[in-house]
Amino acid sequence: MSRRVRLAELAGRHVWLDDGLGDAGRLLPADAPHVSGFDRGFQLGDAVFETMRARGGRIVELAEHVARLRRSAGDLEIGLPDELERRISTAVAALLAADHLDSRDADAAIRITVSRGIAVARGLLPAEAVPPTILVQAWPVQPAPAAHLERGLHLVASSVRRDPESPLAALKTTSRADYVYARLEARRAGADDAIFLTLDGHLSEATSANLFLVRGSRLETPHLGCAILPGTTRSWILGWAGGVGLEPAEEFLTTRDLAEADEAFVCSSVAGILPVTRFEGRPIGSGEPGRWTGRARRDRDAFIRGDRG
Ligand SMILES: Cc1ncc(COP(=O)(O)O)c(C=O)c1O
Repeated sequence: MSRRVRLAELAGRHVWLDDGLGDAGRLLPADAPHVSGFDRGFQLGDAVFETMRARGGRIVELAEHVARLRRSAGDLEIGLPDELERRISTAVAALLAADHLDSRDADAAIRITVSRGIAVARGLLPAEAVPPTILVQAWPVQPAPAAHLERGLHLVASSVRRDPESPLAALKTTSRADYVYARLEARRAGADDAIFLTLDGHLSEATSANLFLVRGSRLETPHLGCAILPGTTRSWILGWAGGVGLEPAEEFLTTRDLAEADEAFVCSSVAGILPVTRFEGRPIGSGEPGRWTGRARRDRDAFIRGDRG
């Protein structure tokens, strides 16, 4: 499909932008240019982001996402407005209304990107603090492909290793070339996604999701010391496990643990919980999506719909 056609798909849609040049953020047509070429997010990947879900116009786990955005921005000394949560709520509400994604059954993926801002001069650090650029985008959530739910995901190990000692390991920055590279490796191998290992050989995470293994009555996930993003869905699952009779455990796990697991799944805010049934071409457990995975997915979906929690 040509680029012209792809851009035409954005007609009638919007983005919300505060580029620090006006007094406040505003809605702009999504198919018009909006971010400066001098923006440091574009130039250097000097930016942080969050991806969240809004169901019926209500943002799921907004406070958790704002807290993580603050941690990511704080460690990079990117200044954020004090009333960030209120501004994000206002921006998302305006954007969802403009794009007709706020009806009772609407399901939207929201991305908040905050870059250090626009710097006219070259160089790794701007000479003086500049106001951040805040961009909010929304998409209708696409249902998971039937194949991913019915046959489960096939994963391979990425050749990119994660350094647990890196101060950047747990930050959600837009410098995502490692993740894109790993996803390309998965595609070349005919797999759906790749798992990162740490430099010392422990399981870390998938390219945009956290990993869980079920072994007996234990629900295991890589420890925060394994260069993972501390996922909001991961936290929810760790809290959910006890209530359904699983024993949650944050561990230093190996590829052997994954290969020998009864079942495995990955999780993230927008894609939810997806079964993993093969690793490096070999079946995990029965090679079919597991029953605990199905239960977790259903319970998480109910939570997102607001049925409980
Ligand atoms: C690398 C990575 N790990 C884990 C996750 C899952 O995080 P969350 O559950 O907060 O969406 C994401 C989400 O995008 C991610 O990009």
